[in-house]
Parts: sequence; structure tokens; C-alpha cells
Amino acid sequence: MFDLSKFNTFGLQVHAKDGIIIESEADLRKVHTDRSITLGHGSDVLFTDDYNGTVLINQIKSLSIELKDGKYIVRAGAGLVLDELISYLVNKGIYGLENLSLVPGTVGAAPIQNVGAYGVEVGDLISEVVVYDLQRHITESFPKLKCDFGYRTSYFKQHKERKLFITKVVFELSSEFSPKLQYKGLAEEEFKTALDLRNRIIELRNKKLPDPKLVGNAGSFFKNPVVSFETAHRIRAQYPDLPMYPAIEGDCKLAAGWLIEKSGCKGITHGCVGTWESQALVIVNRGGAKPHEIVALAKYIMTEVYNRFEVKLEPEVRTFDANGEVSWDNL
Ligand code: EPU
Repeated sequence: MFDLSKFNTFGLQVHAKDGIIIESEADLRKVHTDRSITLGHGSDVLFTDDYNGTVLINQIKSLSIELKDGKYIVRAGAGLVLDELISYLVNKGIYGLENLSLVPGTVGAAPIQNVGAYGVEVGDLISEVVVYDLQRHITESFPKLKCDFGYRTSYFKQHKERKLFITKVVFELSSEFSPKLQYKGLAEEEFKTALDLRNRIIELRNKKLPDPKLVGNAGSFFKNPVVSFETAHRIRAQYPDLPMYPAIEGDCKLAAGWLIEKSGCKGITHGCVGTWESQALVIVNRGGAKPHEIVALAKYIMTEVYNRFEVKLEPEVRTFDANGEVSWDNL
């Protein structure tokens, strides 16, 4: 049995049949199993049960940086810690990823969900993702367009059946600091250096989000729902302060955290789990949580939000049961 408690930031006491640390492509060539899942730090996953297969822990930590036509091409091993990479790059004068400071997890996990924060999505800065195909035992390159990045989604999330192990992420970054300040909490501020911006982002995150080292959580548990313009206006007629953002044509994105708060679910506790006091979108382990408690709380929140607003929330975390990744509708 392989202990997964250090490989899921919820801190759940779960196990896998076995686990293999992957440090290079050579290690991947030796993997011959049709039942495996890949983890970095497990910062965006929920295990609802012990996993009856092999967990591959991505610890490929290579790094190369090349200056080409005024752009920095950064080839980062997928097992590097994303925030450590960002800190290193900011100190070297290589810019673009600052807004993603302190996003938990590894470089290789970032493109799967196309992680985003404070006005930047990681897919905006990726030029290529290199994968190892565990079924065909070959390396394949995914140039940006093939990655199909969308809001918290990508080709890799949509094609789990392909058993692709991300080995390297190639970023195209800048030698000039040009801050991205669209996020409303940043727009009115001035940042002289990328380090100032990084420090401000760290401060904002620390204020709102629980540190997974101290309080088990997987970041935003739900995605911000995309609804029709009519639905958004129906809700706004009753709640003029409804935050809404333009999404794809004719649609609006709503803030799930706001909907959860207005449904009376912010800061609640059910058994050993709850929602975070300063960001309702985050489900937390208040100590000794069991997987079924998290599933039950998430379902409770989904029902409360639906009953109040007729809006369906969809989990953002990837969920695994004994047999592998499982769709939320089957839980
Ligand atoms: N809000 C509330 N109550 C809450 C939480 C939020 O009223 O409990 C309101 C806020 O006042 C604001 C709006 O909802 O008007 C949006 O809140 P916030 O700016 O905190 O961002 P978010 O949409 O809730 C998203 C990402 C976060 C990311 C932040 C900042 C998703 C699912 N989540 O949250 O990502 O850090 O923006 O950019 O898109 C993550 O994915 O794990 C994550 C933490």
C-alpha cells in the first residue's frame, strides 16, 4: 500500500495499491500498467476512496532557459513546484507568470486545469506541452493550439483516456516587465517591479485563501458557473451587487463564491469539513475529514445554490475513486 496522505492537499488518509516516483523519461519507459494515475502535489484532487492502482508521482525537475528573438523560452520539468519556478524567474528578470504566484502545485499540473488567478491563465504563457504517452510508449509534443485551453480545462483534462504523462512545459516569457492588472483589486495600484507585484499577489492570496500546509484544501472546489445573460439578469434584479463577468458570446460568468455565500454556506461546518471563512469557494478539512464528508458537503452546497438561484455548480477538483478518475455525476 502507498500512503497518499502527503500527495493530496486535502490531507485525506487514503492509499493507493502502489506508487512510483518518476524522475526522468527513462523511469516512464519502465511503467507497464493499464491502471495508473499521475500526481504532482495533489493540490487539485479529491480521493473518494483508496485507489486500486499505481500512482505515478511526477518529480521531473529539469530546467533550461534560452533567449530567442527577445523572448525567453523556459523549458520546465513538470515536477518542479510552480511557485518556486515563478520566484526563480522573477529574480532572473524573466516575466509573465507573476500573477500566478503562490498557486499551489507543480508545473505539470498547471496546464491540465489551465490554472488561473488574478487575471492570468497559465495557458496564455505556454507555447508547448511535452507528454509521454504511457500506452504507446512514445513522446509527443503539444503545441499551444493543440492544448485546447479554456476556462479551467484543456485537451489533457478532456482526454483522460489517453494516459498522457506531462514531462515538460515550455513557457514563452518576456524580458520586459509589463504588469497585467485587469483583476479589480490590482487595477488601481502601481507596481515598479515584478517582485512588488508578486508580493502583492501573495498578500492577496494569504488574506483570502487557506494555506494547504496548515489547513487541508484543494483551492476553489467549484468552477465559476457560466450562465445565460437572462439568468444573470434575473438574479441581478433581486441582488444588484451580483458580480458578473463576460464569458463566451451572450453568456456571463458568475462568482461561485458569491452564490455560495448568499446561499448561507460560507464558513459553515459539517462534521470535520467546512467552507473557508474568507472565501466560500474553498472546502476545507477542519481536521480528520473523511472523503465522504467532503462529497456530502459539496452536494449540500450544490443543492442550496440550486434551490436559491437555479444555477448548477460544477466541481473544479479532479475526483478519483478506487478505479480511477470519476465523473461527479456518478458519485
Ligand atoms: N465572493 C463573495 N464571497 C465569497 C467569495 C467571493 O462574495 O466567499 C465574491 C467576491 O467579493 C468577488 C467575486 O466573488 O466579487 C469573485 O471572488 P474572487 O475575486 O475571490 O475570485 P473567485 O472568482 O472566487 C477565482 C479563482 C481562484 C483565483 C481567484 C483570483 C476560480 C474557480 N477560482 O476565484 O482560483 O485565485 O479567482 O483570481 O476561477 C483555484 O482555482 O484554486 C483558485 C483559488
